[in-house]
Parts: sequence; structure tokens; C-alpha cells
Amino acid sequence: MQNDQRLQEGIAAHQSGDLEAAQDIYLEILNKNPEDPDGLHFLGLLHFDAGRAESAIELIQRSLEINESNTSALNNLGNILKLTGEPRLALATYVRAVEHDSRHKEAWKNINLLLRSSGDFDEILAIMSEIVRLEPENPDAWNTYGLAKMLTGKAEEAAEAFDKSLQFDLPTSPNAVWRARILAAQGRNDLAQKHLERIVEAKPEDKAARYHLAAVRGDKLDHAPEDYVASHFDSFSESFDEVLEKLGYRAPELVAEDVVRLAEQRATPFHDVVDLGCGTGLCGPLIRDHCTNLTGVDLSTGMMQKAAALNAYDFLVEGELVSFLSYELPTRFDLAVCVDTLCYIGNLQPFMKALAQALKPGGRLVASVEHLEDSHAQGFRVDSSGRYAHMPDYIRKCAENASLIYAQDRKEVLRRELGKDVHGLIFQVMLPEQS
Ligand SMILES: C[S@@+](CC[C@H](N)C(=O)[O-])C[C@H]1O[C@@H](n2cnc3c(N)ncnc32)[C@H](O)[C@@H]1O
Repeated sequence: MQNDQRLQEGIAAHQSGDLEAAQDIYLEILNKNPEDPDGLHFLGLLHFDAGRAESAIELIQRSLEINESNTSALNNLGNILKLTGEPRLALATYVRAVEHDSRHKEAWKNINLLLRSSGDFDEILAIMSEIVRLEPENPDAWNTYGLAKMLTGKAEEAAEAFDKSLQFDLPTSPNAVWRARILAAQGRNDLAQKHLERIVEAKPEDKAARYHLAAVRGDKLDHAPEDYVASHFDSFSESFDEVLEKLGYRAPELVAEDVVRLAEQRATPFHDVVDLGCGTGLCGPLIRDHCTNLTGVDLSTGMMQKAAALNAYDFLVEGELVSFLSYELPTRFDLAVCVDTLCYIGNLQPFMKALAQALKPGGRLVASVEHLEDSHAQGFRVDSSGRYAHMPDYIRKCAENASLIYAQDRKEVLRRELGKDVHGLIFQVMLPEQS
């Protein structure tokens, strides 16, 4: 009892940042009993906080040799292994945690995150099939099973697993919208709609669920709601660069290629340049050498904080890009780039009008869009993932209605998603010299 109380005092000191006091207490516990699993576990965590990862791993492993079913120690060890660049060992450690406690939410979340980047799904699939067999009403197990199936290209079985997981899950669980989106992406719109309706009913304030429900139902939407975009990218900002790299994302490079070609035809760099929807700033460093003043605009604070850390932008403005272009700006722009952002705006007419006001005569936009290859009366379409694709003729019409010249376009693969190439267009529009 006294030991437990001392341990709690140690943890309190640890959490308040007093590492020295915490270490004294953990060592006191271990002096009494060198095999105390909690003492070893928390001393390990303290060593990690003090920058001694190797000794942290050793201490927590010793603690687990004594108490192998301590799922919190397993989850913490997984976190440390992940942070020290051992994703495979981390994944195996999280799996040990859910084998001992199949309702360990944190460990499931970590498995899902790592699974997407691991590339080795066979073992996980075997373990998950066993867990879903023993616990057929465990939504986390069905979810991970579905994810592993999806990543091995078994779309049908993945969709069935996601449907099962959503049947047993609270509609408010953080991954519920994501699973419904995958069902829609796999062509199971009815199921996706049913699940999204349940989610919206349980949590009407869930912006993502409301937007995806509207997209799956085929509601007429001119653009994605700003509050949805901002909160989606705020929550995505930490992992954005890493996730996009794994998808083979190359839209910033493709747009930058055009910018470099245009810059080579000029005697001086572009003076005033704006990156519309700059996100974490993947494009900024690629074009920086060709710009005198580079401004980034974005709706998401989280994404812009990442962009700010690059020191590639002279100015960063938090706001909606069409409104930004429509302000009385202190300067007009020689060049605008817009990479993978018009996929959140369907109706491009207000954008082109605002752009025409914001460009200098002879100024250009270089942008990427997802290519809508079928013909569609509206000229754009939102898919179940909430992203818009556009027809080239429609883009040209919107540009020309705004007195811009549709200069050129080329087809490119922008990235891969769910095992398929995402086709896009890199296009340019220009404000005539005499305007
Ligand atoms: C897919 S990310 C692309 C980011 C960056 N351009 C890149 O290629 O890495 C889309 C970005 O556009 C921003 N965005 C979407 N719609 C916007 C709008 N109407 N106004 C301003 N930013 C917007 C999002 O916040 C997000 O950071």
C-alpha cells in the first residue's frame, strides 16, 4: 500500500516536470525491490523523457518480463520504439497489448497508424482474424482487420469488415467517418450513407460527417465548407507530409516544374508571388529562388504553422483564398500557384473572377486539379471523399468568363490512393498584358 502511494507521488512529480524528485522515488521503490515492475516501467519512462531512449527500452522490457500483461507498459514501449525509428518492433508491441486487452483503445489506434505505413500485413491479418473469431463484436478488431485487408488489395473483404466494425461501434468514434468514407470509395454508397446518417444523428456538430454525408448523397455543393476544411487540415497537419510522401504525392513538384520553366524565360525573378492553399509549404521551397516576395494563404492554422517553420515564405495569411484575392490587396501578383487545393472548391467561377482582380497584367496562375474525365453537366463533381474533380473545358470556360486566357494544360498522375493512380491536370491561366 505504502509502495503504491510512493509510486503515485513519483508519477505526480514526474508529470509536473520534477524529474529529479520522481527519479528519487522510483529508485527508492527499486531499492526495496529491484524487480518491482511498476518502478521499472516508470523509471524507464523517465529515462526516455531525459533523452536516454536505450536505457528506457531496457527498463520497460525488464518490467514486462516480470509482468507481461501490463498493457500500458506495452503501449508505452511501442511509443518509444516508434519514436526511435523501430516501427516494426513498435507494431509488434502494440499487437501484444491488444492480445492481452482487446479493448485497449490507444493500442488499437497506434496499430492502425503504423499499419498504414508498415507494408507487412500478413502477420497482422493472422492475429486479427483470430481476434475477430474470438470476439466477433469487437469493432476495433474488425476495423484493423478491414484496414489490413484493404492494404493487401482485398477491397471486398475490407468493405465487409468496415461494415461490421461500424455495426458494433459507437457512431461517435473518431474513425467512424473515415471507415464510412472507405465504404463509399469502394462503391458501397448505400452502406456509407446509412453509417454517415447514424454518425450525424449521434453527433450533429461533426463537420466531417455532415460534409461527407452531403457528398455521398450527391447534394449540390459549390465548395467544401470552410470550417470543415480548416478542422480537417488542422488535425492532419502533423502527419500531412509523411502521409502524402507515402502516396507518391508529386503535385508540388509538377507545378514547380512549370514555374521554373516560366522563370527561365524571364530576366528577373517573379516579384510578387502567392501560394494559394499553401498547406505545410511543400511548394514554397521549390519555387523560392524564383520569387522576390512569396506569400502563402491557407485556411488551416495547423498547416500554416508547419509552413512558417520552413522560412520559405515572406508573408503568411490565414484566410479563405477567394476572399483573400478579392480584398483591396497592397499589391497584385505576377504569379499565383495553387496546388491540390482547388479540389476543395467545385464552382471555379468566383475563384477565377477574384484571381483576375489580383493578378498584374501578364500575371499567371499555375495550378493542379483532379481531372474529371467523364462529361458532367456542371463541369465539376465532388466524390465520396469530399474532393472535387474538374473538366478542362469547364476550367477554360470559367477562366474566359473572367477575361483570363486559358494558356495550357497537361495530364499527370498526382498521387496514388487506395491502390489507384489519381489523374490530374496541371494548367495555366493568364491575365492579358493589356487589361
Ligand atoms: C491538400 S492540401 C495541399 C497543400 C499544399 N498546396 C500542398 O500541395 O502540399 C490543401 C490545402 O488547401 C487549404 N484550403 C482548402 N480550401 C481552401 C480555401 N478555400 N482557402 C484557403 N485554403 C484552402 C487547406 O487548408 C489545405 O492546407
